[in-house]
Amino acid sequence: MAFEVPPLPYDYNALEPHIDEQTMRVHHDKHHQAYVDNANKALEGTQWADQPVEVVLTILDELPDDKQATVRNNAGGHANHSFFWEIMRPDGGGEPSGSLAEAISSTFGGLDALKTAVNDAGVKRFGSGWTWLIHGDPTTSRPGGTSSTGTPSSSGSRARADGSSVRTEFDRVDWSVQRGGGLSPPP
Ligand SMILES: [Fe+2]
Repeated sequence: MAFEVPPLPYDYNALEPHIDEQTMRVHHDKHHQAYVDNANKALEGTQWADQPVEVVLTILDELPDDKQATVRNNAGGHANHSFFWEIMRPDGGGEPSGSLAEAISSTFGGLDALKTAVNDAGVKRFGSGWTWLIHGDPTTSRPGGTSSTGTPSSSGSRARADGSSVRTEFDRVDWSVQRGGGLSPPP
């Protein structure tokens, strides 16, 4: 089945006042839909047309040369936005627990320091993009950046900071959401 924009798991205004309804509508209904439409168009007729996005992002170099950039950008945008809707929650926020909390504490010195590091990484990224916290080996948790549609390669990741302006949305993040490896290396 071709890619589809997943329905928001909450109302468009559910993350206010941290993310307003209009911003959610633009990113979900317009940006995300455009990524999906463009990716589907580029993949149409290829053997990868019905594959999950996590698979498509690992076979970019097997696509015809003239499709690779389009699929990387648009399938990447689809994957990143899908992940973002999933990790936000109207009653989210608070503090992480368990091994993630321990890793944040030992690596950054605490949650406030992590927030600062993530925000700094976002501010320093030229243009729009994403800042990722890669949580794998507890000694190597770190924020890293990708372009607006790049995705991290990791054994587990959490995303923050989407779009042309850096937002501090920790107040609504769902720390319990984790995603295993399988996303493509950044281009
Ligand atoms: Fe967006």
